[in-house]
Amino acid sequence: MSDFYQNNNPADLLAQYGSPLYVYNEQIFRAQCRAMRAFCPYSHYAVNYAIKANSNLSLLRIAREEGLRADASSPGEIVAALAAGFPPSEIFFIVNNAAPDELKFAMEKGVFVSVDSLSQIETFGRIAQEKDAPVNANTPTQIESLNKFAQGHGVAATGEVLAGAIVGIEREALSSDLVKREPSPVSGAPHPIAIRFNTGIGAGHHKKVVTGGDDTKFGILPRDIPRVKELLAQYNLRLVGINHHIGSNYAQEMYLVGARALIDIARQFEGLDFIDFGGGFYIPYHKLDGEKPFDLTPVGVELAQLMQDFSAEYGKPLTAMTEPGRYIAAECGVLLGTVHATKQMGAVHYVGCDVGFSVLARPTMYDAHHDIIAYNASGQPITEYPVSQAPHDIQFTENRGAFRLTNVVGNQCETGDYIAKNRSLPPLQPGDILAIQDAGAYGYSMASQYNLRARPAEVLIKKSGETELIRRRDSYEDMLSNMT
Ligand SMILES: Cc1ncc(COP(=O)(O)O)c(C=O)c1O
Repeated sequence: MSDFYQNNNPADLLAQYGSPLYVYNEQIFRAQCRAMRAFCPYSHYAVNYAIKANSNLSLLRIAREEGLRADASSPGEIVAALAAGFPPSEIFFIVNNAAPDELKFAMEKGVFVSVDSLSQIETFGRIAQEKDAPVNANTPTQIESLNKFAQGHGVAATGEVLAGAIVGIEREALSSDLVKREPSPVSGAPHPIAIRFNTGIGAGHHKKVVTGGDDTKFGILPRDIPRVKELLAQYNLRLVGINHHIGSNYAQEMYLVGARALIDIARQFEGLDFIDFGGGFYIPYHKLDGEKPFDLTPVGVELAQLMQDFSAEYGKPLTAMTEPGRYIAAECGVLLGTVHATKQMGAVHYVGCDVGFSVLARPTMYDAHHDIIAYNASGQPITEYPVSQAPHDIQFTENRGAFRLTNVVGNQCETGDYIAKNRSLPPLQPGDILAIQDAGAYGYSMASQYNLRARPAEVLIKKSGETELIRRRDSYEDMLSNMT
């Protein structure tokens, strides 16, 4: 994307919508959705967008338009996905340590659930039995078996709920008759469930985001498979899918190491319909140092081959799913903030701005790096990067002199409140604008009201170049509204 702002100027955006401000570029978001859909050239492949990365409804609607399904990690994300138009059957609820009410909520909405501990299989099983919960399906195989079950029990089955549940290419396989019929879920059939496993393989850009292996709370270990089978039988549950997520933003070859290990687990179960290999896809956060995007093609081709081979061995085509969050949303987002103070503390230059860790938590939480491009108060870039290394075509208009190592800090009452440490930046002054790059994922979605600071607004630069406010800034009334 050569022109992120599409004729909008950062200073004008801040003047119109206030500072700090999350700005998203629709075309970049769409391009990332498409790249992920093209990632795995396998006939039964579906992409579930990990809502946790960025749950703005406008972006969720675009993800849906681009043919993605949704991965929700909480009831709130289920509600957001439904509000954005995803049918329940296209929402996969991958939950960790859920309250019984949360599982019940998902079941009542007709959303498909994955649990990740033996005790949660039991909780889920009890709820499914107590409620004699209606059963939906999300693959043609499930529809077929539900239909058979329904016929045998004299009840109607299938319908829109089922039709909406078909993933990717399989949707076309449905007859229009099936699509038109009213939903009428079946009671008493084995309740479908998915399980998240921990194959022992984990990877990530920081130890806090490694979600496989010994040092993590996630997933069921392979040694517990015999007990899993007992529980499935005991609670009349049918394991239709297995999944894992080994971590986030890591060397992509690990994705395949994890995929092979998960397929080994799939071998130990009959009747599966899908394998979900999780998210974690890498994006380059150091573009100003010349870092280029990772070529995912060989990984996707290899994954497709693994699935083709395994489907042949398994005796039916299993659906392969991925769950990208960061890859879809990170690069479409820039966080604009304003410099309000500068300070010299011994040898250290400080630039104080309005982007605290309540607005962007990643640097404080994970020591994460975000490139920063500096603009003057009129929105002209002052950062003197070689244009070839800049992420967007920038005409540099001002040279403030020699760069110096600078700590960019926010306005929160914590020493840990920083956006960049020892970053080489030109001398900055109050009124300058900081454009924090690649902030679309785990930016706003991790924002808080710490220190009772308002969460910022979010703006979308549409294909046409027009801007649209897609979430307004918190008002003081908002911040006080749910307190007595
Ligand atoms: C279960 C699950 N799936 C998908 C994701 C998305 O990961 P990423 O944003 O790295 O693609 C996460 C992130 O925490 C996750 O926990």
